[in-house]
Amino acid sequence: MPRLTIDGREIEAQHGQTVMEAATANGIFIPYFCWHPKLSVPGNCRICVVGVEDKGGEWVEIACNMPVTEGMVVFTNSEKVRARRKATMQFITLNHPVDCGICDKAGECTLQDYHYEYNGERSVSVDAKVHATKHYALSNRIVLDNERCIQCTRCVRFTREISKSNGLGMQNRADHSLVRAAEDGSFAADPYSDNVIDICPVGALLSRSFLHKARVWYLKPTASVCPGCARGCAVNLWHRRPEWRLRSPEQRVHNEEIDRVTPLDNPAVNGPWICNKGRDLAKVFGRARAEGPMLKGRPTDLAGALAQARSLVAAARKPVAVVSSWGSNEELAAFKAALGGRFAAFVKADHEAEPGEVVEDAILIRADKNPNTAGARALFSDAPPAIPKDADLVLVWGEGFDFGLVPAGAGIVYLNAWLQPENGHADVFFPVSIQTERDGHYTNFAGVTSAFSKCFEKKAGVADAQALFAALAGQPGGGE
Ligand code: SF4
Ligand code: SF4
Ligand code: FES
Repeated sequence: MPRLTIDGREIEAQHGQTVMEAATANGIFIPYFCWHPKLSVPGNCRICVVGVEDKGGEWVEIACNMPVTEGMVVFTNSEKVRARRKATMQFITLNHPVDCGICDKAGECTLQDYHYEYNGERSVSVDAKVHATKHYALSNRIVLDNERCIQCTRCVRFTREISKSNGLGMQNRADHSLVRAAEDGSFAADPYSDNVIDICPVGALLSRSFLHKARVWYLKPTASVCPGCARGCAVNLWHRRPEWRLRSPEQRVHNEEIDRVTPLDNPAVNGPWICNKGRDLAKVFGRARAEGPMLKGRPTDLAGALAQARSLVAAARKPVAVVSSWGSNEELAAFKAALGGRFAAFVKADHEAEPGEVVEDAILIRADKNPNTAGARALFSDAPPAIPKDADLVLVWGEGFDFGLVPAGAGIVYLNAWLQPENGHADVFFPVSIQTERDGHYTNFAGVTSAFSKCFEKKAGVADAQALFAALAGQPGGGE
């Protein structure tokens, strides 16, 4: 293993590593724009220059494309290095608009951060800035501001090397260079296209759904798991910080909304990427909610609904349950512990692929559109094609159940989070909490268990399924 010294610290590198990789692996920071650990190395931005000690003094070279060698001595912050970075920053920002006040990337923009760190001076240019297209529709999901683009080509390389759509390219040369989508529509059809928004080091690629919605410093990320398929990608759900809650009545709804979703790097599950469906979780979690228990469509309170459900469970001779593949491991275990001995229980698929959706691919997307089928199958069998004819009570938990399968005359206890017509047909209906209102775990198709955390409070009339199962079994502390 080659040993080298960076800023006076001796480190051991792996064979074939670059100075950038060795430094990053050892917690030493070198700035970068075009480099990305999962993409090829074009070496075009030149901000990652470091100094290397030599007989003739110190020479500077880019760290992202320089292999480590035995005995190398590297400086990441010498006077020579800082002077070169300052000149590079002057060059990169030559035509950059000072849009920071209205740019969605402000607060997360490395160009802004490095300007303060390595340049911090007014432009030296005496020429007028070269203007380029602003608010260019790259797809129906992404807007491009070419004036902000620093031509790092990360977005172009992403579509060539990761999503393989080849959806983006660079037109023209020098300060007339423009990122553009291929004319065959492959970028608009790329189910991973929104990853380019995250990896763009500046505010050139912008999400239409997040455009001018919030300054990022007003938002807080909560670690979660995408329930869109059995991959269970690790994500951050971004929502308003409690200390920045909006107070005007018409704005209050924004306090309990997901403003954007970004990947949370998990090498065992999704690496640093997610698909576009994961970006759209606000639509899934933002659907109209069921907020009160019902008895055959008539509103009641939780105690009344529990009493009726308990008497149905007590009277049933052959009760059957179809459990949710969107239930957490904790909820599924609670069902098993409280009611598993009483009910014949089967797992159902709550969601199927939507028309037009990519059903499965070799990157991340799985055909099973439920996050915890593996967790549920570890405890219960798969649902039979029909509910046994002699079942006299059917407990349905979650969406996606065909109520036509319930034998005539059987009672129905239904647990669902969403406002749906089926809710009113059940003998007893319980509105239950959703993933954003509780902590829990899902187990993905490969057996990896991931945690999700609560970001919002549930409404007063809404129950937690876990407590409800214990209450139905008459266990102490069961939510009564
Ligand atoms: S749009 Fe962003 S990611 Fe793409 S080349 Fe320009 S700066 Fe780089
Ligand atoms: S691949 Fe599946 S789990 Fe990952 S973001 Fe897409 S839908 Fe969600
Ligand atoms: S990060 Fe090394 S040249 Fe861009």
